[in-house]
Amino acid sequence: MTETPDTTAETPAETPTGTAGDTAPATTAPATTGRAAATTRRRPAAPRSAASRPAAPAKPRLGLGIDIGGSGIKGAPVDLEAGTFAAERVRIETPQPATPSAIAPVVAQVVEQLGDHLQGDEPIGITFPAVIQHGIARSAANVDESWIGTDAESLFSDALGRPVVVVNDADAAGFAEVTFGAAKGIHGVVLVTTLGTGIGSALIVDGRLVPNTELGHLEVGGHDAEKKAADSARERHDLSWAQWAKRLQRYYSHLEDLLWPDLIVVGGGVSKKHEKFLPLLDLRTPIVPAHLLNDAGIIGAASLAAQAAEKR
Ligand code: BGC
Repeated sequence: MTETPDTTAETPAETPTGTAGDTAPATTAPATTGRAAATTRRRPAAPRSAASRPAAPAKPRLGLGIDIGGSGIKGAPVDLEAGTFAAERVRIETPQPATPSAIAPVVAQVVEQLGDHLQGDEPIGITFPAVIQHGIARSAANVDESWIGTDAESLFSDALGRPVVVVNDADAAGFAEVTFGAAKGIHGVVLVTTLGTGIGSALIVDGRLVPNTELGHLEVGGHDAEKKAADSARERHDLSWAQWAKRLQRYYSHLEDLLWPDLIVVGGGVSKKHEKFLPLLDLRTPIVPAHLLNDAGIIGAASLAAQAAEKR
């Protein structure tokens, strides 16, 4: 990409969208009997004005989102007005080692498998779990080192033969939560964190994303925060929810003291179990679980790509 996508999250206008099964209302006149038809001369029907013609069911505006994770590469067409999948998600295992040249053809396979559900001109957004600055991968905390310096946008556009937008995974998830999920309609400063193998962060101010905040790598108590407080640390050290919550308390207190957000949203797979740990936290900032969970990356990537396409 040549330009950072404009990430202003405007609440999409509520436009009625038709579903594939929708049919236009019947337009045929009531059947007349053969006799009546034979004996009554009927004036030819006057052409209907555009206003009285029944509207064709509106097709949802589609985008395509692809989420590259450590274990799976997932993709789905996204209804950009509703913020939902327009067809079932496709998932292929992430090849190991997960180098650029191994991943690119798998991304192409995901798109090929979705073929029947695509129109071929959807904006394509792809997430990647590293800093992505103007399309180029700049870090590799939990991914293969060979990504550093890779022009991910050129790599995937070449593999797909179409332009793509590549964004950080947490930025995509955060953007989806602000546009369609737990932080929809919230103005001010929203901080979205994803707790998984690492800790991802997205900072959204009045609906506009500040990309690549990387707040999972804050130094807290002399440690890289994600090494202590990511969900993988809970699993690795077999921590109880209470033990893990102590680490989260330290992390989120530090974050709120630095950023003073209006709302914190907690995503990542473990947020499904939010009732086990969020009530144990004592923060001044409201903290809520994400709504879109595993779908957030795909939905956010497609939405960011659509925004970037509108700006071109
Ligand atoms: C990476 C981030 C990523 C996060 C979640 C961190 O280790 O540095 O770029 O968003 O993990 O995948």
